[in-house]
Amino acid sequence: MTEFFMPAAAVLRSQGEAGERAFHEQAAQTARRRFGNRVFVRAVVEISNYCRQNCCYCGMRRQNRGLHRFRAHYEQLAEMLIHHRPPSVTDVNIQAGEDPVAVREVALPLIRALRRETQLGISVCLGSLSAASYAELKEAGATLYILKFETADAARYAELEAPASLEERLENIRHLAATGWFVSSGFIAGLPGETDDHLLANFALARELPLDGCSVSPFIPGEETPVSALNLAEPGNGYQRGLRTGANLVTINLTPTEIRGDYLLYKRDRFIMTEERILTAIAAEGLVPSPQSLADFYRNKKINGARVAAAKVPANA
Ligand code: 5AD
Repeated sequence: MTEFFMPAAAVLRSQGEAGERAFHEQAAQTARRRFGNRVFVRAVVEISNYCRQNCCYCGMRRQNRGLHRFRAHYEQLAEMLIHHRPPSVTDVNIQAGEDPVAVREVALPLIRALRRETQLGISVCLGSLSAASYAELKEAGATLYILKFETADAARYAELEAPASLEERLENIRHLAATGWFVSSGFIAGLPGETDDHLLANFALARELPLDGCSVSPFIPGEETPVSALNLAEPGNGYQRGLRTGANLVTINLTPTEIRGDYLLYKRDRFIMTEERILTAIAAEGLVPSPQSLADFYRNKKINGARVAAAKVPANA
């Protein structure tokens, strides 16, 4: 059975320790009831930081002329993911700025190679694309599309210069779900000027959309990190706290180091979550890496007919 709980604004904003603890416990219990103590471990590879969009919150925006742009070679990534991935990884997320060239030249051949050579579940986070591109990616073997709605407030969305309009973004999300994709979405928490009403509207929209997963990134001013945004938001402790409060998916960044520095925006010090650090954090919270892939979990879920969202420790996300 699908379980939801909708926190009220007062609860979301509560600074009181006891209230916060109760809220976090409720979130964790909801996740653990459904997923036991298992956490999905997914690798992310960033294949391009070219982007035709201009989102104000994102360092990859096209007007950021200071960013060195790159596109990865799919052969290098395929070799690494097929032969040298950390053993706990069951899924891969292929991520890029909104770059149709990278979809064609990197993502599609990489997905085909992974499909041919591995059992890995394949997620993509490649922006708003044409219906034809979505179909090609699915045909190649990806099953989960990650497309954030960023904010549920249409005026804020436009002000932030997020892609097209909020309505079009939501149409893309609904189109993906209606054409057989599993879909994960979410929003950025703590954008400048965010009010209680904005925050509640974000939760309400996430609940209303046909989603299989949801993640919330804490806003990182001036840059973004797909690595461990929670650790940036709360140095030293954010990551485990995410797990403790109900997250059930973590990300290991396997982008080759020579291109990693160019991805996104980040000039900030990044705390890289290696497999060892991730496994240590998982164990410290009494959890275990899921032997089943996220893709497999979704496939079974579809067969059994229920829709249950997975909640992610924001990393990229
Ligand atoms: N802070 C937090 N999240 C961000 N994203 C982009 N820039 C930032 C930032 N500065 C998130 C957006 C986007 C996803 C890939 O990363 O939600 O959809």
